[in-house]
Amino acid sequence: MKKVGIIGVGEYLPKKVLTNKDLEKMVDTSDEWITTRTGIKQRRLVAKNEAASDLAIKASYQALEDARLKPEDLDLIIVASITGDMPFPSVSCLVQNAIGAKKAACFDISAACAGFVYAVTIAKQFIESGLYKNVLVVGVEVLSSVTDWKDRNTCVLFGDGAGAAVLSQVKSGGILSSYLGSDGSKKDLLYIPAGGSRLPVSKETIDNRMHYIKMQGNELFKLAVTLMAEAAQIALKKAGLDCKDIDLVIPHQANIRIIMAMAKKLKLPEDKIYLNIAKYGNMSSASTATALCEAKKEGRIKKGDIILLDAFGAGLVWGACVIKW
Ligand code: ACO
Repeated sequence: MKKVGIIGVGEYLPKKVLTNKDLEKMVDTSDEWITTRTGIKQRRLVAKNEAASDLAIKASYQALEDARLKPEDLDLIIVASITGDMPFPSVSCLVQNAIGAKKAACFDISAACAGFVYAVTIAKQFIESGLYKNVLVVGVEVLSSVTDWKDRNTCVLFGDGAGAAVLSQVKSGGILSSYLGSDGSKKDLLYIPAGGSRLPVSKETIDNRMHYIKMQGNELFKLAVTLMAEAAQIALKKAGLDCKDIDLVIPHQANIRIIMAMAKKLKLPEDKIYLNIAKYGNMSSASTATALCEAKKEGRIKKGDIILLDAFGAGLVWGACVIKW
């Protein structure tokens, strides 16, 4: 079996910063509440003329440079996003055209906050099978476009950003195992009611603010802790490893309390958990992707390290990958 690894990473965060103090002026909340309940201090937001593909393109160029590959070397582009530029065409096609990845096939996947873990797992199969050599995976979200800025339960949580990774065959290490899970019976815990084929845009859906994220945070919190810990254990077992073997966990960044409760379940010390939630909030599929990129840039990932990607989100969907760097 071919060994498949991540050979380059990149990211792009939009320039505009929205702090908790700024949010205090918009809804009935406080920096203290947001910080203690979530670990978030600020988040990035797109400019008026910026959409998902604009962020994805910049992250993709950086990942290609890191991988020392040219756009023409790409055989496939997979973008994980729930906030594409438009219903169609896919964000991946917009990226393909902008960067000039002339021979790449393209598709997007919808797996919310677990999108990057899902996309990495899909990319691995294409390379392992021998169909493709170099695959670009992007996690990108403009959650600000589906956030109800009058709802304090949700608007303090989300942000915009993009992270990218290039996957290819490697001589040693690589992705040792993957585990993906889902439970569609819990779809109503986190969803956007309107804007699709069930409830197309109408004056009524707009008046009732149905194009924004609706969330039952408490229920999700408990499920996220349990299912992320379970995903980690299953993926580690598949790789023939144990929690003690992990050098760094790159978790989905939804809430610092979720992450720390998961770490406690796995008996992992805090210094083995990578966090960027304070700076960016929850960027769905972009959270795990940017966290991986930043951990690498900061020297937190060294050759031979065992890295665990672990994510959970709307669907419900969740998953984990064990990578030997
Ligand atoms: N500022 C002040 N008070 C607030 C705010 C706010 N921004 N938001 C809610 N409150 C209030 C609530 O109204 C409630 O008040 P009440 O007791 O008078 O009714 C109180 O704070 C406590 O609310 P809880 O919902 O119990 O707060 P909790 O401690 O659970 O934290 C949170 C809420 C942060 C949303 C948490 O439940 C969470 O992080 N959930 C998981 C989110 C998640 O993982 N999402 C999945 C991934 S996202 C994706 O897939 C796109």
